[in-house]
Order: sequence, then structure tokens, then C-alpha cells
Amino acid sequence: MNLSERDIKYNWHPYTQHKTAQPHIAIVKGEGALLWDENGKEYIDAIASWWVNPYGHSNTFIADAIYKQLTTLEHVLFGGFTHEPAVLVAEKLMQIVPDNQKKLFFSDNGSTAVEIAIKVALQYFYNKGEKRTKIIAFENAFHGDTFAAMAASGISFFTEAFQGSMIEVTRIPVPTKGNEKASFEALENLAATQEFAGFIFEPLVQGAAGMVMYEASELDRLISLCQQYNVFTIADEVMTGFGKTGKNFACNYLTVQPDMMCLSKALTGGTIPMAITTFTQEIFDGFYDDDVNKALFHGHTFTANPTGCAAALASMQLLESDEMQQNLERINQQHLNFQQKIENHPKVKTTRILGVIFALEIQTGSTESYYGNFRNKLYNFFIGKGILLRPVGNIVYVLPPYIISDDQLQKVYKIIEEALEIV
Ligand SMILES: Cc1ncc(COP(=O)(O)O)c(C=O)c1O
Repeated sequence: MNLSERDIKYNWHPYTQHKTAQPHIAIVKGEGALLWDENGKEYIDAIASWWVNPYGHSNTFIADAIYKQLTTLEHVLFGGFTHEPAVLVAEKLMQIVPDNQKKLFFSDNGSTAVEIAIKVALQYFYNKGEKRTKIIAFENAFHGDTFAAMAASGISFFTEAFQGSMIEVTRIPVPTKGNEKASFEALENLAATQEFAGFIFEPLVQGAAGMVMYEASELDRLISLCQQYNVFTIADEVMTGFGKTGKNFACNYLTVQPDMMCLSKALTGGTIPMAITTFTQEIFDGFYDDDVNKALFHGHTFTANPTGCAAALASMQLLESDEMQQNLERINQQHLNFQQKIENHPKVKTTRILGVIFALEIQTGSTESYYGNFRNKLYNFFIGKGILLRPVGNIVYVLPPYIISDDQLQKVYKIIEEALEIV
């Protein structure tokens, strides 16, 4: 039996209906933007393996840092103890996040980063004796799969079965073109009730919704509104963080800054699961008290794992390098060139770009479901051609590792063009 066959005996895969799923492709090696399966077939990883891997697979700079840390101090509990890698990550991150962020809390993945932000927003008001128990989020948001993160997520596909078991979240329209006023007014109506502790959003780009984009000036207006009504703003940069939008963070495009930020995915360059939630001093002070009950009683066994911290530190060094910064510009320029070439194609409904993110909506007669036949046909076509892309309904997006070569990127575009001919 090959790996793929052995796999299904025990493994339960994410977002998978095992009854109808095809065999899982067994990957045995990765290098740079490439992956190889057990039959020797090569794939270009054009979505950086769910957006985690900007510096390429099997990156030796990060691997060396991990090895060194593993053989110095692989793990120590973070309750009552600290260590140099955590201090260094904190010092480094605080240099690059917006100025108003002063404290950070480590966890393990994007969902926990969000879970912590939401818990903090709720407990902040609880500690003050104010009843604010609800959260505001965008329509079609995706913030993760744990309960609070799921409650904040608006893609019903992921959350339908759990309605009634989650914290109360009210949704407002995303301020895409034409919806700016509706979004602003909906937020104002909710914020004015004083019942909401926080407003969580994916800044500028809603990833899982299909790279839906909106203007920074609109988000500025929404954040300012929340400031006016003392509703905490939570920027979920789990997808957008660490260069994806062309700047370190999507929030760098804003003129006003959120109260909290959620970071994960590219934080460790796709090596070790880790996440960080950052906060303003005001928020931290809401927990700082002689009363132990006002503390944030949240923690995970692997909080601030030193090996993960070493990977994060190495990753942030890579992000800052001239080479990586040039890659961000190079990929953006290539996307723009491709957009020019493809945008008038009769099967292309619309295209959008921010930083290294490119999305193309295919013209269809009907609304295509998240994991429907149309999407599956596209997915299979790309996989057949050795390109790892995961379309969302009728939206094809590219979010490549920053080290992808021009030739590899051109091949991805070419196959997308070919895909337009088969749908
Ligand atoms: C914006 C956003 N937030 C949170 C998450 C959840 O992250 P994780 O899958 O690491 O729990 C994701 C995952 O795609 C995401 O895109």
C-alpha cells in the first residue's frame, strides 16, 4: 500500500467529506515553492500551503534556527517562567506592529489568537462591571474554527451545525464598493447600543471568503466609529500578516489603529504552529489589579514554545531582508501584468490585487458553492497540471510563497488561463 492508501485507514482530514473525497495526495518533499508527491509528481504551491509559507518549503535558515533552539532549550512552561526566544520575539514584533500595540499573548494557531482577543474584549468589560457580551463582525468573515472564532465567522458552511451554541455576534456588511454607507450605518447602530465589547474584522482582505477586498479609508472610518463608542477593534491579521498585502501588516495602510491584532500562519514561516495576539496598554491595564480574579485565566501548554519562538524570530528576519522586500514588489508587479492581460477575457468577471494576493472571479450563470462541482472541477484541473490552487466557489486566487520564481509564477498564470477554457 502506498502512503495515500495507508493514510485513510486512520486519518480524519480537515474540511473533508470522507465518503466522497478523492484519495489524499501524499507529499514526501518540499523545497522553495515546490512540493513532490510519493509518485514523484511536482506541484507549484501557489497558495503557500494555506498562506503559512512565504519563505519557501524546507527553508534552511529557519530550520537551522529551530535545530539550534531544539538542542539548547526545546520547551519550558511559560507560567512562572520565561526564556530568551520569547523575549526576543516580543522585542522584535513590537518594533514592527503599529505603535499603539504594547503587550502580547502567545498561543498556537489563528483560531486561538482570535479566541483570546474575543475573550479579552469580553472580560475587559466584565472586569469593569459593564455588561457588554456581544461582538460585531463582517458578513462572510472567517476567523477560525474554535467556538468564539467560529461565532465571529460568517460563512455558514463552517458554522451551521453549531448555531445556538455560540456567543452572540451581529454582522454588518463589508464596506466593498457600493456598500460603504450600509456598513458604516450598521456599525453605528450597533456600537451606539453599548452592548458590544468588540468589532472583529479581517483588515482589507477577507481571505476565506475569496480574497474579498475593501479600502483602507473605509476601515479607518469604522475603527474611528468604534473608538467613539468604546468598542474594541480586533484586526485579525492571521492571513494578511507578515507581508501578504505588500506591507508588514494590512493595518500599516490605516491611519487609525486597532486595539488588538491576531497573528499566526506566516509568523513561523510554516514550520511550527504558533500565534500571537497583541494589545494596547489600556486593554492590559483592564486586567492589572490586586484582585487575582481580574487576570486573564487563559493559557495553552505550548504557550511561547521556545522552538516556535526561534522559528518566528528567524522568519521575521527573513521578512525584513532586502531580498524578501524585493520579492513582494516583484510578485505584485507580475500580478498587475497578468491582470492587464486577463481582465478583459470574456470568462473573467473581475480581478483584484493587493500585495502578493491576486484573485480572479470567473463569470458563471449561478452562485457557485464553496465546495461545489464547479470549484471541484477547477481544483482537479489545477492539481492535474501540477499547480496547488484551492478555488473558493468560482474565485481562483494566488497567494504564492515570496520566493516563487518568475518562471513558476508565469506557469501558474498560464494554467489559470487554460482553466478558463475548460469551465
Ligand atoms: C483570517 C483568519 N483568521 C483565523 C484563521 C484560523 O487560523 P487557524 O486555521 O490557524 O486556526 C484563519 C485561517 O485561515 C484566517 O484566515
